Amino acid sequence: VKVIVVNGPNLGRLGVRQPDVYGKQDLEQLRRLCTQWAQDLGLGVDVRQTDDEAQMVQWMHEAAEGQKAVVMNPAAFTHYSYALADAAHMVLDADMPLIEVHISNPAARDEFRKRSVISPVATGTITGLGFFGYKLALEAVAELTK
Ligand code: DQA
Repeated sequence: VKVIVVNGPNLGRLGVRQPDVYGKQDLEQLRRLCTQWAQDLGLGVDVRQTDDEAQMVQWMHEAAEGQKAVVMNPAAFTHYSYALADAAHMVLDADMPLIEVHISNPAARDEFRKRSVISPVATGTITGLGFFGYKLALEAVAELTK
């Protein structure tokens, strides 16, 4: 099974951006960890990041059409992108799991972070566990697609 690990806006700045909230490790380290975890689980993985909503939507189309599972940290798009929510729905319609991940716990933060428009169209959501959340998400993909 192939998985795309999709990271949204500002996550290219991991390690530099609010390290107290998002940790000191950067995107490259996340990429390395996900590659190792996926390999251990027998999954093919592609770790991506974009600041562009259109690109995120296109990646969902790619997943839906190519029968790829998705692990997604939609970052700020979580809270308002109906376009991304609609696109995520297409992945579920293609019978592939889509796991939503947040490094921080948005429920414990600003009011605007308490709502996710992605959660209703995610297979499941993992929050507040740092990079380890991606490991759990990949395990969920392996479990759900076996
Ligand atoms: C985030 C939480 C979002 O509220 C925020 O906009 C992000 C990162 C997280 O991983 O904790 O950019 O998705």
